[in-house]
Amino acid sequence: MNKLNLYQQRRDFLKTSAVIAGSTMLSSIPFMGHSSVNDTIKIALIGCGGRGTGAASQALSTKFNLQLVAMADAFRDQLDNSHKDLSEKFKDKVNVPEDHKFVGFDAYAKAIALADVVILATSPGFRPIHFEEAIKQGKHVFMEKPVAVDAPGIRKVLATAEEAKKKKLNVVVGLQRRYQKNYREAIKRIHDGEIGDIVGGQVYWNSGGVWVRPRKPDQTEMEYQMRNWFYFNWLCGDHIVEQHVHNIDIANWVKGSYPVSIQGTGSRAWRTGKEYGEIYDNHSIELTYADGSVIYSQCRHFEGTQNRVDETFFGTKGKAYLSASNTGKLWDHQGNLLFNHPTKGQANPYQTEHDELFETISKGEYKHWDAEYGAKSTLTGIIGRYATYSGQVIKWDDALNADNSLMPETLTWDAKPKILPNENGLYPVAQPGLFHWEKA
Ligand SMILES: NC(=O)c1ccc[n+]([C@@H]2O[C@H](COP(=O)([O-])OP(=O)(O)OC[C@H]3O[C@@H](n4cnc5c(N)ncnc54)[C@H](O)[C@@H]3O)[C@@H](O)[C@H]2O)c1
Repeated sequence: MNKLNLYQQRRDFLKTSAVIAGSTMLSSIPFMGHSSVNDTIKIALIGCGGRGTGAASQALSTKFNLQLVAMADAFRDQLDNSHKDLSEKFKDKVNVPEDHKFVGFDAYAKAIALADVVILATSPGFRPIHFEEAIKQGKHVFMEKPVAVDAPGIRKVLATAEEAKKKKLNVVVGLQRRYQKNYREAIKRIHDGEIGDIVGGQVYWNSGGVWVRPRKPDQTEMEYQMRNWFYFNWLCGDHIVEQHVHNIDIANWVKGSYPVSIQGTGSRAWRTGKEYGEIYDNHSIELTYADGSVIYSQCRHFEGTQNRVDETFFGTKGKAYLSASNTGKLWDHQGNLLFNHPTKGQANPYQTEHDELFETISKGEYKHWDAEYGAKSTLTGIIGRYATYSGQVIKWDDALNADNSLMPETLTWDAKPKILPNENGLYPVAQPGLFHWEKA
């Protein structure tokens, strides 16, 4: 197909998506009705931190004709740093005038309105709201994992995923192992039965932990929690959701289903100070699937201990070992190697996500509907948190239907988040046996 036809097809596709999006949306889709931008795909970045800036870089590094036209962040300094980095690297591909830079809690909707494709990369608590708005406005989406932090958020993402399907809007979720060749090839072989039925497995994210952003004297409680978001569940979901979702998602992908129940144990053993908010630093859970198989999952943030981030699966005919360092190995029960993926010379999956998304959009196709598995693997991590915090066995359906939103009633800099420190600056931490996950 020649270049012109491709462009025409893509314009028609964006128009079709917009028409499906409904007549109320026509005025808010800038691509509609004119093609005066030489078929440039306009992108907006919502959440201009480390990963958002990285994802925008990957989008702008694809071979397609893209421009970053709008940016939104809760904080001006974050937006400015990201804009500076991206402008230096991509020069005229970054075209964000002052009136396309939006700051604050309501910034996202204004930036979404100016783009064809939006990158959602704030802390995950806001993802359901931002995703809903992007699909309402008829935009294709790249959104980072996890996609929510509580059951009401998951229900919103699942409902929005259905809308996206109806409107044929492509959605890629940043569970980049799904776009990594060793995982794709090894898991295809597992699904083809090379190691038999999967009866068990182990998935890990054990590491030394992440950053802390210390409290500053002039900050409101809301600003402090927004900056130091990793340690507050309404923003992060705990590290079992925020980070370990990657490995949990591999378990679900390999099994081709989601657990029917989860039980586990966890605590704060190492990170006990007030700067660590309310989250645990270790969780060990068992994911039980409908066929009776059990996958064991462990995640911890302890400095000075073994680092392990990988996945192992046991089948009736053999075993598999996978990791993000491009490893993908399958053996039979006699120890014979059935498959060994080359670790050298592999594409960067963070880049592949964007290469594939923008290729699809450029061709006017509809191929990416990651939101559903993104939501269900995120929910698996959330149920893990409900299980370790409460010490109860949690059933999938009960958790999915729980009415336990963590989001504050009001989003302003003076508003109070639901979780507040005591007079010593310490936050309440869930105690198994006493913690009611249904009301949390
Ligand atoms: N796929 C991966 O391997 C990977 C790696 C790192 C981070 N992530 C994910 O990316 C997301 C962002 O992580 P990060 O490391 O970039 O964090 P970050 O703190 O560097 O950036 C988050 C940005 O979002 C902004 N923000 C927060 N709430 C907002 C709101 N309501 N509206 C607008 N902006 C808002 C913050 O001010 C900040 O600039 C998280 O969900 C994280 O889990 C994914």
